[in-house]
Amino acid sequence: MQNILGIETSCDETGVALYHPERGLVADLVYTQADHAAYGGVVPELASRDHVRKLPGMLRELLDRAKMTAGDIDAVAYTAGPGLAGALLVGASTGVAMAAALDRPAIAVHHMEGHLLSPLLEDPAPDFPFVALLVSGGHTMLVAVEAFGRYRLLGETLDDAAGEAFDKTARLLGLGYPGGPEVARLAESGNRDRFDFPRPMVNRPGLDFSFSGLKTHTRELIKRVEETDYPDIAAGFEQAVAETLAIKCRRALKETRMKRLVIAGGVSANRRLRAELETRLPGQVYYPSLRMCTDNGAMIAHAGWYRRGEGTKDGKIAVKPRWPIDSLASRNF
Ligand code: KG4
Ligand code: ZN
Repeated sequence: MQNILGIETSCDETGVALYHPERGLVADLVYTQADHAAYGGVVPELASRDHVRKLPGMLRELLDRAKMTAGDIDAVAYTAGPGLAGALLVGASTGVAMAAALDRPAIAVHHMEGHLLSPLLEDPAPDFPFVALLVSGGHTMLVAVEAFGRYRLLGETLDDAAGEAFDKTARLLGLGYPGGPEVARLAESGNRDRFDFPRPMVNRPGLDFSFSGLKTHTRELIKRVEETDYPDIAAGFEQAVAETLAIKCRRALKETRMKRLVIAGGVSANRRLRAELETRLPGQVYYPSLRMCTDNGAMIAHAGWYRRGEGTKDGKIAVKPRWPIDSLASRNF
């Protein structure tokens, strides 16, 4: 099995990529849907329709760029969950249908495992075992990764995900969607020490997170200040999230006695977070490249390679909008 096609449609990015175990990433295309900005969040029905509209053309363009034909594809990996059911079904039905037409296996990939393994696409790649901080729009979790497929959930958010907290704060500040990059941009000209922000749950033992109190704090603060203070609010908020995440990461390494931390998911693109982690855990942190932090097909094709033994030709189209990562088992190849 050589050329693996990856298809990602779990949320508002349509991603397709071709991964080859020796050549690495052969080609990779991502389309980020723009229609959701007006609604301040992802509208599932619009997302599904946009995937339907974009995916066939992107698959054709991907093969053109790779100078390949469909017959060169040896397996099709697609995101089967977690994510929006209708959006997932677009990638799943396209992937399973393509695999059936080509008489190749279709591989159902767990979206968060795609993120989790994405730093392994980089050079240098971290060795197992490591702790993974997965921070995206829908998830915030710390996972002990003993080996490929052996995942132990150490902690997760009790309410909002870190990316969601960024998105909601962006909305409060009158910024666009997705909010993370917008808040980060505004924070560049702000003073992160001017206002006090809580560091939720850092004084309690354990590795769970909670971001809803921070959001409420920010909302109340915004009511009391002028618009010219918004950069300071953005900077203070960003710093609070970055420090809270970094403190928990250090604790997780200590508790597991592991030496390496991997961060992945959309929020791992945040520079302030990276700086905090570097300060607290110098030389121990591995990231995907910025482009690979947010959703993409490359991480799905790459995870598909790890799961290559699990491909099927049964033609079944099944998605799992909810799919706990610690329910994944490894297979020996
Ligand atoms: O992994 P991802 O693309 O999609 C999900 O699986 O959810 O993550 C998207 C999330 C959004 O909430 C977005 O605001 C956040 O990642 N994000 C960031 C940054 N870039 C994206 N948050 C903070 N700083 C960033 N630079
Ligand atoms: Zn994601």
